[in-house]
Amino acid sequence: MASNAKKVPETASQTDFDIPIRRHLRWDFSEVGPDFIERSKLENYFWLSASLAAPYLEKFFIRVLQPTIPDIDDQKLAEDTKNMLAQEAMHSMVHNKFNKHIANQGVKLDASHALLEESVDWLSGYSTIDLIGVVAAGEHIIYSLSIVFLNCEETRMSMTPQARQLFDFHCLEETEHGAVSHDLYRYFVGESYWTRIRTALVATRLIWTILVRTMRRLINENGDKITWREKLSFFKYAIVKPGTVRKLIGHLFQYLHPRYKMTFDHGDKKQMKRVEERVNLFSEQAFPGT
Ligand SMILES: [Fe+2]
Ligand SMILES: [Fe+2]
Repeated sequence: MASNAKKVPETASQTDFDIPIRRHLRWDFSEVGPDFIERSKLENYFWLSASLAAPYLEKFFIRVLQPTIPDIDDQKLAEDTKNMLAQEAMHSMVHNKFNKHIANQGVKLDASHALLEESVDWLSGYSTIDLIGVVAAGEHIIYSLSIVFLNCEETRMSMTPQARQLFDFHCLEETEHGAVSHDLYRYFVGESYWTRIRTALVATRLIWTILVRTMRRLINENGDKITWREKLSFFKYAIVKPGTVRKLIGHLFQYLHPRYKMTFDHGDKKQMKRVEERVNLFSEQAFPGT
């Protein structure tokens, strides 16, 4: 008897939708001041470090993954990879615009740029297989950071709206393509636990540089004096509520667990739809008729 069930094509991709590229969005940061998170100087530096690092990381991801596309003999996974890299290229472009705007507001960024450049250059001695592992672990950590950001209303609402638009957009897309680098790891590297561990440690060092060392550079370069009250409040933010850094460490341990199978679900899709509507609406209102 013939079955009416729709045939699902077999694929190495875990993404059951087409990854969108939002070329319709427009960007304006003219209302963003040097402190785009009003409630905390250190949270401001934390997310500024992430923004400064974005173009370096995205370019690194593109440099590693673009040449692998002709070797992907799986149409859906090849499509996912192309779309993910197109998203990353847009992130890089928009963060560059945002970072230049922040520099024009008088925030000194040169020492941080130098540190970030050096950290990504340091990866040039690794093999392609190792770098695919570094990308997979790096994307896993970025995915976790994105989920924490999208669920932390206190930080989101304390951001200047134009800055919030950028971080909402970027975090949304990180959740959409979160599975792709896992798929690529499974496709090119397979089950090798040793490679996963080794490359995850390299990625952790990279993320540490981005989130901790860059933040310190920013504080030093701008000659800021941080009070104990500010340090305590940031400690609470990082470790207690919402526990941004604690949650990142938790997700990293999940990735390092020998039983972690690199399987991926895309989380709360209804929440992501709401974020998408918010991002679209903001852009439409800021640039009517475009
Ligand atoms: Fe990105
Ligand atoms: Fe990404």
